[in-house]
Amino acid sequence: MSVIIVVGAQWGDEGKGKIVDFLTEKADLVARYQGGNNAGHTVVIKDEKYVLHLIPSGILHEGKACVIGNGVVIDPAALIEEMDGLASRGVETKGTLFISKSAHVIMPYHVAVDRAAEDLKGAKKIGTTGRGIGPAYTDKAARHGVRVMDMLNPDSLREKVTQNLVTANFLLENLYKVSPLDPHQIVQSYTGYAERLKPYIADTGIMINSAIEAKKNVLLEGAQGTLLDIDHGTYPFVTSSNTVAGGACTGAGIAPTKIDRIIGVVKAYTTRVGSGPFPTEIPGELGERIRERGGEYGATTGRPRRCGWLDIVGLRHAIRVNGFTGLALTKLDILDGIEKIKICVGYKYGGTVIEEFPKELEALDGCEPVYEEVKGWIESTVGITKFEHLPADARKYVRRIEKLLKTRMHIISTGQKRDEIIVLKEQF
Ligand code: IMP
Repeated sequence: MSVIIVVGAQWGDEGKGKIVDFLTEKADLVARYQGGNNAGHTVVIKDEKYVLHLIPSGILHEGKACVIGNGVVIDPAALIEEMDGLASRGVETKGTLFISKSAHVIMPYHVAVDRAAEDLKGAKKIGTTGRGIGPAYTDKAARHGVRVMDMLNPDSLREKVTQNLVTANFLLENLYKVSPLDPHQIVQSYTGYAERLKPYIADTGIMINSAIEAKKNVLLEGAQGTLLDIDHGTYPFVTSSNTVAGGACTGAGIAPTKIDRIIGVVKAYTTRVGSGPFPTEIPGELGERIRERGGEYGATTGRPRRCGWLDIVGLRHAIRVNGFTGLALTKLDILDGIEKIKICVGYKYGGTVIEEFPKELEALDGCEPVYEEVKGWIESTVGITKFEHLPADARKYVRRIEKLLKTRMHIISTGQKRDEIIVLKEQF
């Protein structure tokens, strides 16, 4: 029995969906612990592609309990759409999906404020996904959020929505100059969503802890990545939740003493969506080539991702704040055919070389990457399942990363499909 957390080590989009899907084979319960439908986890099974936003990727394995934990913010309309989409492809959620009654609910005014606030910021915008994530977590922290359990009680729902709309509508009309929202309409549609979701709502903290007590294998699935963490990321260009391993305990309702392993998912290069500093960004043709080969377009918004070289400075920071027990390297095959590959081993800033990820945004903005150049490989690595079958230079690249990070590689993904994977160390 083990409890494993899977965390993105970069700016999200590391390919966590595939790693979670792979690990789910031996898991009994899979839980999401933060974020919302800003996430887009892509899983390819045979030739079928699934993109999951709120439901843990574990749902694609039959009979696994899948939990949306208390730390997640849930847009019920998006969740129902996702459930229906899965059902139309033969994936059932009845009896396997459980929604925390303590999770906070994304309301239409959160989405409206998220989008209007971004518009008002102009060039200074964060580049959010526009799904209402930030405003929903704002209400949670301000202690007037609507929780899933409130949705089940129409009187409580009406009272909260009416009260929250006093402020939200004032902002929408007077500051953002957009149309106000009608409380009756919101209460009516959310009461409908509650009816639909009622059979799935549970005290998921108790469920997860009971599974651990019963010595089951539990997988905790993070969304976004370490550098998008509200505390440890490139603030303010971050999401509004704790994406790091610590967030798994608060967002699932389990104690830190229950965690056995923490897997950091590292893409073989770096990508970032939205605004904010990105020291190893590759300008021009090569960046575009990686974007095209890697299909680096947002799974949620379709936005093109900015592409760059692997950044050891950022990854060292991720290792420190997450305490990774091992790494999963993804998309190694995307680097096939690139003659020379760069690895950023330090930042040049103010005349000196720094090895720690700067906290000040201005400093990070002014950092120049110090690169180590390694030889690339020409051969295809797609679908390779044994480490020794990788081209020698690909093996060297992997070993060099391990050495620089002082952390072992446990899994290497060599393609989109479920079985395109090298397992160096079993996790469960
Ligand atoms: P929000 O989470 O929609 O508020 O967006 C805040 C920042 O996080 C923006 O830069 C988004 O592009 C980024 N972001 C949010 N979710 C994801 C994700 O799943 N992958 C990558 N970036 C994300």
